[in-house]
Amino acid sequence: MSELGFDGVVSRRTVLLGGAAFGVAAFADAALPPKAEAVAMEFDPVNANQEDTITLPDGYTWHVVASWGDPLWSSGNAFDSTSRGTAESQAMAFGDNNDGMSCFAVGNRTLLAVNNEYTNPMIVWGNRASQRYENEDDIRKGMNAHGVSMMEIRRGAQGWQVVKDSPLNRRITPDTPMDITGPGRGHDLLKTREDPQAVLALGTFNNCGNGRTPWGTYLTCEENFHSYFHSPSNPDWTPTDALKRYGVKASNDRYGWATIAERFDPALEPNEPNRCGYIVEIDPANPIARPRKHTAMGRFKHENCEMVVARDGHIVAYMGDDERGEHLYKFVSSKVYRRGMDNPSTLLEDGTLYAARFDENGTGVWLELTPETTGMDTAEICIHTRQAATAVGATTMDRPEWVTANPKAIEAYCCLTNNKNRGKSGQPVNAVNPRPNNQYGQIVRWIPAQGNHSNQEFKWDLFVMAGNPTVYQDAYSGSSNITPDNMFNSPDGLAFDSQGRLWIQTDGNYSNAGDFAGMGNNQMLLADAGTRSIRRFLVGPRECEVTGITWSPDRTTMFVGIQHPGERNPDTCHFPDGGMSIPRSSVIAVEKPGWFGLGRAAIG
Ligand code: FEO
Ligand code: CA
Ligand code: CA
Repeated sequence: MSELGFDGVVSRRTVLLGGAAFGVAAFADAALPPKAEAVAMEFDPVNANQEDTITLPDGYTWHVVASWGDPLWSSGNAFDSTSRGTAESQAMAFGDNNDGMSCFAVGNRTLLAVNNEYTNPMIVWGNRASQRYENEDDIRKGMNAHGVSMMEIRRGAQGWQVVKDSPLNRRITPDTPMDITGPGRGHDLLKTREDPQAVLALGTFNNCGNGRTPWGTYLTCEENFHSYFHSPSNPDWTPTDALKRYGVKASNDRYGWATIAERFDPALEPNEPNRCGYIVEIDPANPIARPRKHTAMGRFKHENCEMVVARDGHIVAYMGDDERGEHLYKFVSSKVYRRGMDNPSTLLEDGTLYAARFDENGTGVWLELTPETTGMDTAEICIHTRQAATAVGATTMDRPEWVTANPKAIEAYCCLTNNKNRGKSGQPVNAVNPRPNNQYGQIVRWIPAQGNHSNQEFKWDLFVMAGNPTVYQDAYSGSSNITPDNMFNSPDGLAFDSQGRLWIQTDGNYSNAGDFAGMGNNQMLLADAGTRSIRRFLVGPRECEVTGITWSPDRTTMFVGIQHPGERNPDTCHFPDGGMSIPRSSVIAVEKPGWFGLGRAAIG
């Protein structure tokens, strides 16, 4: 039996569950480095609710910037809610299910780069009686709704709107050619009939969280790539163990891609899944530049990519692998960053991967993934990164989602969204993942030794454990900074603004019942890293997830992603168009007169 430690995060008490004690080892507060400064949270928090709209504190406004199917060029058709578009119209339009995004100043233009993660059959093919794809155009429409939307936006009388026909506008889809870089380039495991040299991949898809580099490029992160592969050519095909580790299954025809493109049929192209699951770098200022898939940064179900320049000048990229029991990683560049370095940079093509081990006493180690530690060659480590992390004994985690680094202190945070398998075989309860059947999630933070993000040693604590204090009195009530007024579940999106305020976005259970009673729809909260207080800032519409956050270059507007409103019951959600319209994923702009000083910190 042990006590939960650190600053009363779950208070200094023994936690009992079903008669069995569990918890994490205490560690001395005195051992912890100084906290980040407290920052102002100048709004009155909003109540949880189940409204079909955006709820904000008094004084704040919102408007839609772009919704699924909005054309980026004047030659494209306006979104047609009857047909829900075609392959052709979708290729010219904002993609579906927007997720991570970044705003860039390109000359005097403002460019918004937005991931379009996936499609919901019931929405994208909701005009079909089967609620599935029924022909090749349906499949291609779904395909074109994936990838990344790069679009100029401008503030006018209607607020921030897309600038149609801007020379910066670009759609990147699962068909866009991209260079393979790093140790995987040219490797046998990446060779296919279409690309026997393993140098040029087609497309990116299931782009979840994102990142940005100090040299001004966008990073899009490939997450659940496994669900696009199946084998219509061979019903008896079964995945290898290596593919099974990444979730590739024999039957999975949700999207139908393998029926129109052989590369998605692993019986015909067994290496194609090895070409997915990477960080892809895109130059927002050069719409004809080929995106680059960086194998050196590892292959897993990437959530986001938080990049910092470490004190010693190396680029450090923190990255979560969002799957129950998978790991938290970082990449450290071999070379150091020099401000003003040319783009494209080669810094992300060569470096070392590490996976985190969180020890019971509040310390941790980034375990190096090398041929010596894993028994794998460098390219294999980059391609079978999960297996490499297992080989070195990395800690199994409760689904690592977004990581963010504090611009006001040398520390980083990661959402561990939830994990129903915690406590089961292979995923024992441990200090950083302390609750069996963890339905609420927690946020871990770590402070690198010697104030250097490239250091292998760190100290960690749990910044918050989500929970429901109206239902539970034990550890499932949450940490001491959770109250009936700010409770939430399944933290996912996470980002610091330039003032060191920590924004938390949720992708959780929105039933508002049982364990989740009183939590309402998915939401966004603001946390003070210094005091650990948390306030609810925004509630999203029905059945949405709130994901993706960035700021205008002038720091007066916050852009927020509203993903999959009405995902299960589209008839009960009409966001954002209202009336009886079909729900559409959208980017919204949030503003307040006189609001200034937000925005993402300059890196480095
Ligand atoms: Fe795409 Fe783990 O969220
Ligand atoms: Ca997510
Ligand atoms: Ca999630």
